[in-house]
Amino acid sequence: MFSRYKKPTDAKPVGAPGAPNLHAEAAKAPAAERAAPSAPAQPAAPKVAPAVPPGQKSGRREQVPAQAQAEDRERKRRQRLGEIKVELHKQLLDNLNLAALETASEKDLRAEISSIASEVLSEMNVVLNREEKTQLNKELFDEVTGLGPLEPLLKDDTVNDILVNGPQQVFVERGGKLQLTDVTFKDERHLLRIIDKIVSAVGRRVDESNPHVDARLSDGSRFNAMVPPIAVDGSLVSIRKFKKDKLGIDELVKFGAFSEEMAAYLQAAVSTRLNVIVSGGTGSGKTTTLNALSSFIDNSERILTIEDTAELQLQQIHVGRMESRPPNVEGKGAVTQRDCLRNALRMRPDRIIVGETRGEEVIDMLQAMNTGHDGSMTTIHANSARDGISRLENMIAMAGIEMPLKAVRAQIASAVNLIVQASRLQDGSRRMVSITEITGMEGDVISMQEVFRYQRVGLEPNGKIIGHFTATGVRSYYSDRFRQWGYDLPAAIFEPVNAK
Ligand SMILES: Nc1ncnc2c1ncn2[C@@H]1O[C@H](COP(=O)(O)OP(=O)(O)OP(=O)(O)O)[C@@H](O)[C@H]1O
Ligand SMILES: [Mg+2]
Repeated sequence: MFSRYKKPTDAKPVGAPGAPNLHAEAAKAPAAERAAPSAPAQPAAPKVAPAVPPGQKSGRREQVPAQAQAEDRERKRRQRLGEIKVELHKQLLDNLNLAALETASEKDLRAEISSIASEVLSEMNVVLNREEKTQLNKELFDEVTGLGPLEPLLKDDTVNDILVNGPQQVFVERGGKLQLTDVTFKDERHLLRIIDKIVSAVGRRVDESNPHVDARLSDGSRFNAMVPPIAVDGSLVSIRKFKKDKLGIDELVKFGAFSEEMAAYLQAAVSTRLNVIVSGGTGSGKTTTLNALSSFIDNSERILTIEDTAELQLQQIHVGRMESRPPNVEGKGAVTQRDCLRNALRMRPDRIIVGETRGEEVIDMLQAMNTGHDGSMTTIHANSARDGISRLENMIAMAGIEMPLKAVRAQIASAVNLIVQASRLQDGSRRMVSITEITGMEGDVISMQEVFRYQRVGLEPNGKIIGHFTATGVRSYYSDRFRQWGYDLPAAIFEPVNAK
């Protein structure tokens, strides 16, 4: 049956005599008796709500014994189906010729899997309805070609992040909120197999001696895994899904991430080549904001982007993308963001965009901003504009640069013009909560002024935050610059919105 896709040598096909397969197991015990599994985890099991709540079991049985029995039978059948599926997954992976799979068309492979599954099922006397069969075939296909239980989540466009905490717990983030799913892995080995599949596809390795990995998947998604023994309760996986259609300025305004006035201001700021830092917490929308801001860059400019994991999708014609590389298992071959940045300075960029500044590259980033590559942009992890400045100072100190604090601050003040603060609020909404201009130094302190902010006014009973964007009323420090570059922003943009 594995005509084209079976391993050519020793492995025995499902159903072949002597193969460690379902038939042997099925022969050992009749279907009904094998129904109650002792293993705690079955991929399909959690999806099935118990047919009879434990507390009501005996009462209902007395009332409608036939129905209760039927429900019980159905539950057992489903449990058994879960077991069969796990075993079938295993058999398929053990027996399929993975090299041949690469060249097989999806249609052929689906047909092959479907025929194997029906054959095995019929030999086991398991009858499935059409819907169950379709679902089983789909899951088998995902297991063989893709990432098993993760596959439906990867295909679900409403999911932003996938977070796996060991084989039995998979969370997703939808609309800014974390939700526990009913997706599970059979056991840690199953989860490790999927992790291994992911990392080996991008030429990386993860095991006990090298227990964490950060990679970009072929579809652009960001992937991080940490496996035992460092991960104590089973492997930890985080996936930031790649969005093909990144949110643009218009969508961000529509979704309430910032106001039209702020968009007009930011357009002027980016077009007139102010150096911008997008600051925010984890998953607050920094990269999305950076990407959207980059759309204001003129098509004639040469842009170089540097990232640890390439996520940015710039629409301009003249873009050079770089991605840093971690060291290999021997600890060699690393190319850091700093290496990329230094090299970028020799590549005649008009603007440099660093996906996230988190270490020693801060020095070169600030220097680039100070020396003719104005209009450069980056993001940092910080909770406010002031905090962002402290983070920059810390990064400089940790990079081993011995400079008096005042000089460090002067360097930052002259390099950075604008800090845009992104935030994920408690109701899950992502908003640009503040836009702050750096206006220079006052004594030893960097002076700054907030131009726009998100004003919270209350909370709806359902937990949704009530608030609005407003200008703070200060005149932009860069008004003259905007005007000189032809961006005559109406004064109304800078007028505060009165709270209702
Ligand atoms: N305003 C928004 N409205 C709805 N979804 C958003 C918004 N901004 C960002 N997102 C979504 O939130 C997720 C996280 O966004 P993003 O990658 O930009 O965050 P980040 O701050 O760069 O995260 P990290 O700290 O992990 O790098 C993405 O899936 C993105 O599509
Ligand atoms: Mg990011």
